[in-house]
Amino acid sequence: MHNNPLPRLDEQPEVRARLLPFCRLTPGGVWNDATSGHRVACIDAADPSAAADLMDGKRAQLAIQDPPYNLVAFDTRGIREYIEWSRAWVTNTLQALESDSSFYVWLGADQRDHFQPLPDFMLLMRDFPVQARSFITARNQRGYGTQKNWMAVRQELLYYVRGTPAFNVEAEYTDIPKTLRGYYKDVGGERTENLQRGKRDTIRAGNVWLDIQQVFYRLQENVSGCYAQKPLKSTDRIIRASSRAGDLVIDFFAHSGTTLLAAELAGRRCFTADIDPVYCEIAIRRLEHFRVAGKTGWQNGHAFEKEMPAGRLSSFADRAPEGTVQTTLF
Ligand SMILES: C[S@@+](CC[C@H](N)C(=O)[O-])C[C@H]1O[C@@H](n2cnc3c(N)ncnc32)[C@H](O)[C@@H]1O
Repeated sequence: MHNNPLPRLDEQPEVRARLLPFCRLTPGGVWNDATSGHRVACIDAADPSAAADLMDGKRAQLAIQDPPYNLVAFDTRGIREYIEWSRAWVTNTLQALESDSSFYVWLGADQRDHFQPLPDFMLLMRDFPVQARSFITARNQRGYGTQKNWMAVRQELLYYVRGTPAFNVEAEYTDIPKTLRGYYKDVGGERTENLQRGKRDTIRAGNVWLDIQQVFYRLQENVSGCYAQKPLKSTDRIIRASSRAGDLVIDFFAHSGTTLLAAELAGRRCFTADIDPVYCEIAIRRLEHFRVAGKTGWQNGHAFEKEMPAGRLSSFADRAPEGTVQTTLF
């Protein structure tokens, strides 16, 4: 079996350094997609002029932001600094959005540290001219925890709107059959129960998403080297619920390029960015790979196999072990 994954690049800086020369973007650079009009920029999401360069005078209908939220990754940064940094990228996001638009943010809540940064981020959002609409929880299959605490399996997703954007409720239906009977009601003189009255025989996702498989190495969409990839299915659900065909979707924290690929698949345009040229390159290559091979990721291969075929990687200190699941809190 083909088995040539990259290790997690955040944990293997020497591997990342070897990939850097193969990246087409350097800081400040923008890649323009000639096929579908997407853009990928290598910028700091907190920098207003760089964010404006990415937007190129356009405004988006939807933002899906997934910032890093493990404060360990911020070294000595505390929560105050994290929130001030968040204020800067949220300001840039709102600057890039239409007056009727939707704004989704994935954020962690560290149960070992007062659930940070979620509560302070929620308070920060009160300072902006947006309405809170939903607090969604996506349930992971695998979690982390001890025998002395509830296993942590949740991913938090905040949904805000500005103005009155469209919401397509059809996107909310899952494949999970309705099984609960009850909620009897008389309709036209007849006693009916909810299964008879419903438009569909499957349940709506609501604000607890139970039906999304978290990314792990056996999935086609797996992008090895990445450590925080969101499933295409959750991104697709957001895009179909909160944008229309041809709309512009933004994501300032591209990483594996999930929003870029999901936008392509759903017929939307995407302007996305990452501060790291390696993740910008991975995002672009993932889109190109899909167009050439029809695959949504590399499963047990990786984005740089042309330059780093199997064998060339063997000198890496620590290859991704079989069974790697991307972490839930990062
Ligand atoms: C949690 S990951 C995003 C995962 C992404 N949603 C996916 O599905 O692959 C966060 C990403 O933000 C990037 N990042 C960190 N600080 C940034 C900044 N100031 N500006 C832009 N990107 C940044 C990191 O390099 C990382 O790739």
